[in-house]
Amino acid sequence: MKHLKIFDTTLRDGEQSPGCSMHINEKIELALQLEKLKVDIIEAGFAASSEGDFNSIATIAERIKDCTVASLSRALIADIDKSYQAIKKAVSPRIHIFLATSPLHMQYKLKMSEEDVLKRIEESVKYAKTKVSDVEFSAEDASRSDRAFLAKAFEAAIRSGATVINMPDTVGYCTPNEMYSLARFIKENVKGADKVDLSAHNHNDLGLGVANTLAMIEAGITQAECTVNGIGERAGNASLEEIVMAVNTRPYLYNAETRIKTKEIYKTCKLVSNIIGVNIHPTKPIVGANAFAHESGIHQHGVLAKKETYEILSPEAVGIPENKIVLGKHSGMHAFAEHLADMGYHEISGEKLQELFGEFKRLCDVKKSVSNKDIEALLTNKSLEKNLLYSLENFVINCKKGNAYAAVSIKCGGDAVKTVIQDGDGPIDSAFLAVDRIVGKSFVLTDYGVQSVTEGQDALGESYVRLGLEGGESVIGRGVSTDVIESGILAYIDAVNKLLA
Ligand code: KIV
Ligand code: ZN
Repeated sequence: MKHLKIFDTTLRDGEQSPGCSMHINEKIELALQLEKLKVDIIEAGFAASSEGDFNSIATIAERIKDCTVASLSRALIADIDKSYQAIKKAVSPRIHIFLATSPLHMQYKLKMSEEDVLKRIEESVKYAKTKVSDVEFSAEDASRSDRAFLAKAFEAAIRSGATVINMPDTVGYCTPNEMYSLARFIKENVKGADKVDLSAHNHNDLGLGVANTLAMIEAGITQAECTVNGIGERAGNASLEEIVMAVNTRPYLYNAETRIKTKEIYKTCKLVSNIIGVNIHPTKPIVGANAFAHESGIHQHGVLAKKETYEILSPEAVGIPENKIVLGKHSGMHAFAEHLADMGYHEISGEKLQELFGEFKRLCDVKKSVSNKDIEALLTNKSLEKNLLYSLENFVINCKKGNAYAAVSIKCGGDAVKTVIQDGDGPIDSAFLAVDRIVGKSFVLTDYGVQSVTEGQDALGESYVRLGLEGGESVIGRGVSTDVIESGILAYIDAVNKLLA
């Protein structure tokens, strides 16, 4: 059975999509989670695109030990230099070069002839090879390229030292049959194709990203490029969790296996959803809230009689926490720490563990039962990498219809606590305005939402806000509490901390 490499591009192609931009600390946290998930390659960004991208790639390259770290580059010396500078400290660095090969892109976008494109591929791949041994070449819009020319382009890349050749369906235009046939064609007709990894990179414009990738795996490719939750340009990229679980469920069909720790899938999907502030749709395969729910009587009967009647994979296999009561108010810190380790959070210790334990105890006082889902939600509040300039000390809200007063106290920097009283249109409005006054800035709020973590009246509420400074980029803030107003204020302060960090 062949080893299928999983190339995760959530931090590059995923982050490129509108509304999905991530703060550097969030990128690092996600990269560390991708390493735990055991993807083979993390595409950490596009070094030449911005200083922020460069810095986060460089940090990720230094911290990741068990995955290849890649940076995207146009086929330009300056881009390749930037990529190299960003990834040079990685244990296993890769430069990923792309250049379009379709007539449409070459004529209208690049204004380059076929000869120019072939020459540029050779020059750029050869140059990248002087920097690192692992060089990927992607023929952008490969699926709409002339096949004979595409083969020449890949041969030029392989001759120049490329170790991976990637054939993207950049605009999500093709069908599984077409992508199968393209992969076979390249495998059988490109000189040297047997010496390199052949790779798929499919966008989802017609909802075929995963299907196209699976067809190419059947055709014999050895690397699948994908993103967590399928985020990415326009309708997104092929989703990592769907590809992995399709292969994992029927490895003999695909004659392939991955090294992914499937029990880390749910945690990774939830982390991405938290970072970008987009909830996982209930019917999303693998990780949606309904993915394992059996509503109809016939199905319930079947599952009770034998699970496999209607379940082809189990929630445990992808690490979905059981919604059962786990610990109570009499549990001690030791039991709590052990339970966290059972949930896969081995690294939580010291001050962070103490704080989390305190929050858990407070939750036990207000909630009848505390489940794994609640603990996961508390962890959302306690991201490892957060730098807390401001933290909520206390608040009181007094409101009647259409009018409210909030008294909010916030710990600023060291120990100084500032309190202001502020009116507003409602409890959330007055509380958010109070935070603005304490911080001394006027933030632009473009989105706010709240959802419950578990069922029941005493469920935790999880709030998110999208917040920015006038004319600047926006960030997502998250907060969790049994009190939805408090979760909103926590989310707002979380976003303020990110913006000002
Ligand atoms: O979709 C695409 O073609 C890409 C390339 C840069 C690999 O993202
Ligand atoms: Zn892409």
